[in-house]
Amino acid sequence: TVVYLNGKRVDYSDAKVSVEDRGFQFGDGLYEVVRVYEGRFFYLDRHLERLKKGAQEIYLNFDFDIEDLKEVCKKAVADGEFKDASVYIQVTRGAAPRQHNFPEKSTCTWVVIAREAKPQPEEYYENGVSAITVPDERWMRCNVKTVQLIPNCIAKEKAKKAGAYEAIFHRGDIVTEASSSNVFIVKNKKLLTHPANNLILHGITRGVVLEIAEKLGLELEEETFSLDQLFDADEVFLTGTMTEVMPIVKVDGKIIGDGVPGDLTRSIIEEFRKLTK
Ligand code: PDD
Repeated sequence: TVVYLNGKRVDYSDAKVSVEDRGFQFGDGLYEVVRVYEGRFFYLDRHLERLKKGAQEIYLNFDFDIEDLKEVCKKAVADGEFKDASVYIQVTRGAAPRQHNFPEKSTCTWVVIAREAKPQPEEYYENGVSAITVPDERWMRCNVKTVQLIPNCIAKEKAKKAGAYEAIFHRGDIVTEASSSNVFIVKNKKLLTHPANNLILHGITRGVVLEIAEKLGLELEEETFSLDQLFDADEVFLTGTMTEVMPIVKVDGKIIGDGVPGDLTRSIIEEFRKLTK
């Protein structure tokens, strides 16, 4: 594992931040997870763009150069000689005596952690995995990728306890996204996914899949869909940086479609993999 703290390489055991870092005390920070395939970053610029937008949303002023952050990401992967890696980026409002107001003087804490990424078991993609549904109890600004992830962690833990791969959130009757991925359904050859508004993270992988769908000439709508539509779908799949494009064949114990990854899902996986080569 390679760690850079505020732009400097530090040993893992020495990589420490203040007990009064606002990321620690308030969850006052943002993060990104970027995937590296065979030494190449997968849409790093899109991740950094989302990070910049998120910073504007929470009035976080970067006091470092985003180009430096980009360089550090590349150095971290090079230092570790990683071929397949995940790169975790976190930026917080920095350390100051605890008070809710933004500190007048503080410098951002910015961290890059690169480690080797093992691909998920191939059988997950071949046979599909299962999911559960849970109420979406998060705040109303899920488009901002903050480090406040307790509802996501609780949801993922529920999924694990149920022997499921992922937890799919619903706000009332509407399916939003999942604990660390976006959700797509296919009905009568038409793709549906929640619109990119304040209720979901605008996933980079989601965007890539929309581009793939367009390229394949698939019918597609960024439109909300209900829990009933989820259970009644022909195909369901998740998208995410670490999840990639993952077929869901069972939700809350109910079989989706034929209980195997569907044709559209498989063709999207195939196209997605071409982009990682
Ligand atoms: N999670 N929705 C949520 C709530 C997420 O946390 C993520 C990513 C996604 C997918 O976004 P993207 O395609 O940009 O990775 C959707 C990261 C990987 C994580 O928390 O580890």
